[in-house]
Amino acid sequence: MSTLKAVRGTRDLLPPETALWNHIEATARAVFARYNFGEIRTPIFEDTALFARGVGEETDIVSKEMYTWEDRARAQSEKTQSLTLRPENTAGVVRAYIEHKLGETGQLQKLYYIGPQFRRERPQRGRYRQFSQIGAEVIGPASAGSESPLRDAEVLEMLATLLDELAIRGWTLKINSVGSASDRPAYIAKLREALKPVVGQMCEDCQRRADTNPLRVLDCKVPADQPIIETLPRIADSLDDASKAHFAAVCAALDKAGVPYVQDHRMVRGLDYYTRTTFEFTHGGQPSADATGTAPILGAQNALLGGGRYDGLSEALGGPKAPGIGFAMGEDRLVLMLQAIAASQTDLADAYIAPLGEAQNPAALELARELRRSGLRVELGDGSFRLKKSFETADKVARAIVLLGEDEVQSGILTVKEFARGVQSKVARADLAATLAAVTPTT
Ligand code: HAM
Repeated sequence: MSTLKAVRGTRDLLPPETALWNHIEATARAVFARYNFGEIRTPIFEDTALFARGVGEETDIVSKEMYTWEDRARAQSEKTQSLTLRPENTAGVVRAYIEHKLGETGQLQKLYYIGPQFRRERPQRGRYRQFSQIGAEVIGPASAGSESPLRDAEVLEMLATLLDELAIRGWTLKINSVGSASDRPAYIAKLREALKPVVGQMCEDCQRRADTNPLRVLDCKVPADQPIIETLPRIADSLDDASKAHFAAVCAALDKAGVPYVQDHRMVRGLDYYTRTTFEFTHGGQPSADATGTAPILGAQNALLGGGRYDGLSEALGGPKAPGIGFAMGEDRLVLMLQAIAASQTDLADAYIAPLGEAQNPAALELARELRRSGLRVELGDGSFRLKKSFETADKVARAIVLLGEDEVQSGILTVKEFARGVQSKVARADLAATLAAVTPTT
């Protein structure tokens, strides 16, 4: 008899990897709590019409990737119904918002979720048919401030914080504005016009999209189509004054908060409900072991998370006006990132001791001896180095740097910086060995 295996695109998660999943989820829950989000859990399957109307009939997700079946009536009181395993959770959250009349509270609803989603995609590294998302939505009546650009900026700042707390560095935040219900139709009309003479030279997908969903042409990755796409009109040039001002305010708030981003005028995303701000956090990889370039961690799937604003979704689903913004992170991809970071850090020393002057060299040797005796792997700098050089060297060879100046020698209170988390703290000498031993790549 042939043995049964997990279905293509699905996986078993076993210890010790499950500990990493729990660590990611606990970190996300703790960050969401600080931003005053509460958890929502919606069903894993829904009426197919929810996704057709919410995500959009013409999207790849709805037209090709959904697990849909006719659910037979079991009693005369029931009807046979078309049901679908959720491919994403925003439509379900907005359905619940409408169903439970959450808008009537007059307050912003700040809801997060963690759970499985299902898409019939071609499986590859970082892309599965059952995958897990950690997502959140901010939705409510406009009078509660749901349309404010500050909501967009706050969500993006929260995501930067969450990635930092997970010790994921080197991400890129790409943002764009895809316009609103009032200015987008004019842009789509311009795009259709511009596509007419050139679409015949483009790939089959573009030829179909030019007809059904021209905005998605901007998303095409086929190399031969790129020069043509670059000649198409840009959405930024068709935004009306209100959309332009909204986007400028999001960017200004991000600048003020020190969250780095790049504008990507071609990022339209694969779901139809987006209006105005859209965004993605991507990760290109990490420096390769031979330091000659960058090694991709996520294969071709470099999007850690994506999201945006959906000011008309509630109305499209038959609900009240309820502007909103949200995101979903691919948890499977976060796990791959953290595993790669952990693997790259096994070669690092536990600490690099940086004496802040040649007079501190003997004390540094004494401290190194003490830490090595407690079992730690220690690299010792030299007091003749400039501070910048000490930091640069330490960042390459150790998980943490310990600064040893005259004050530190006298007071016995040392300054320690953990590189993965970017955290600097003061530690009493008696606690130093234990503190350094606790610095692991993912905790
Ligand atoms: P999405 O871009 O379709 O957006 O998915 C968000 C993230 O889920 C992706 O960036 C990726 O990390 C992960 N993901 C998607 N498909 C797969 C897959 N097959 N395998 C592994 N990971 C995957 C949404 O789903 C929107 N609901 C996000 C949103 C929330 N927009 C507003 N609110």
